[in-house]
Amino acid sequence: MPASLSLKPALDAIGEQIDQRFDRLLAIPDDPRARLYQAMRHAVIGGGKRMRPLLVVASCDLFHVDRERALRVALAIEAVHVYSLVHDDLPCMDNDDLRRGKPTVHRAFDEATAVLTGDSLFAIAFELLAEEATHEDPFVRAELCLELARASGPAGMAGGQAMDLAAEGANFDLATTTRLQQLKTGALIGFSCEAGAIMGKVGHGPRTKLRGYARDLGLAFQIADDLLDVEGDPAAAGKALRKDAAAGKSTFVSLLGVERARAQAELLIDQAIHHLQGFGPEADLLRAIARFAIERDH
Ligand code: IPE
Ligand code: IPE
Ligand code: MG
Ligand code: MG
Ligand code: MG
Repeated sequence: MPASLSLKPALDAIGEQIDQRFDRLLAIPDDPRARLYQAMRHAVIGGGKRMRPLLVVASCDLFHVDRERALRVALAIEAVHVYSLVHDDLPCMDNDDLRRGKPTVHRAFDEATAVLTGDSLFAIAFELLAEEATHEDPFVRAELCLELARASGPAGMAGGQAMDLAAEGANFDLATTTRLQQLKTGALIGFSCEAGAIMGKVGHGPRTKLRGYARDLGLAFQIADDLLDVEGDPAAAGKALRKDAAAGKSTFVSLLGVERARAQAELLIDQAIHHLQGFGPEADLLRAIARFAIERDH
């Protein structure tokens, strides 16, 4: 059975759990901030694959972390991810009209509201992590905040986005493109996978395995995104495609061609799964997510 099918129940379930919690968290206030809350709800509720939240829950399950606590971390990473998408779609960046099959936030609302939506989601993520309900140990909460800050900032996602802007017409080589993708996409996926080890307070061994899994998965996931950009169906993807080549961006696909890029993604997924050796069936969900990451059509 393709991983995309076997994973569907798990993806549906996490999607519903995330939607419910954002719905509760983002109740619309009866004051002039209502528009901001509506825009945040538009961005985070009802859409997306929720792959990062599922990675958080799957890595937390390895170490028997309480599900409700794991979901708070899952909500935090999804908030940062969606913030990155809202800003990525802005006219000053990728200038996109469609995201997750809906108008982008600056289209449905306005640019200023989209900027503030991103700002607010980013802040809410750290609020969720820092609150006591996430973990009784303040050192664990501090480590979650530290790692998410690193993964989001100039040494992580934002730095990768800056490299992505610089990539337009720059002819980056494979090493530079790999670094770009590791920062832009890999860092947040890395946090999602390590979250279980942080929450479970486990030692070096299992954490290193998760880090290795995440590194290969993150790269393969972005290669799949670049392949989708070239040969995907925009209706299934829920966003505009065929943009990278038009913008003159170096991607794995522009550097290697479609066939070699796909082969590279498959190799990376085999490697990612190999890192999970030593874990038993409790890591089957992580194995299925890895296969899904490159089989997906959206
Ligand atoms: C899109 O991420 C942006 C990238 C980092 C490639 P996803 O493909 O996970 O987007 P959603 O969350 O499913 O919308
Ligand atoms: C965006 O990458 C990655 C982040 C938002 C960090 P892309 O620009 O390739 O993502 P899509 O294709 O718009 O989803
Ligand atoms: Mg972009
Ligand atoms: Mg984009
Ligand atoms: Mg893309």
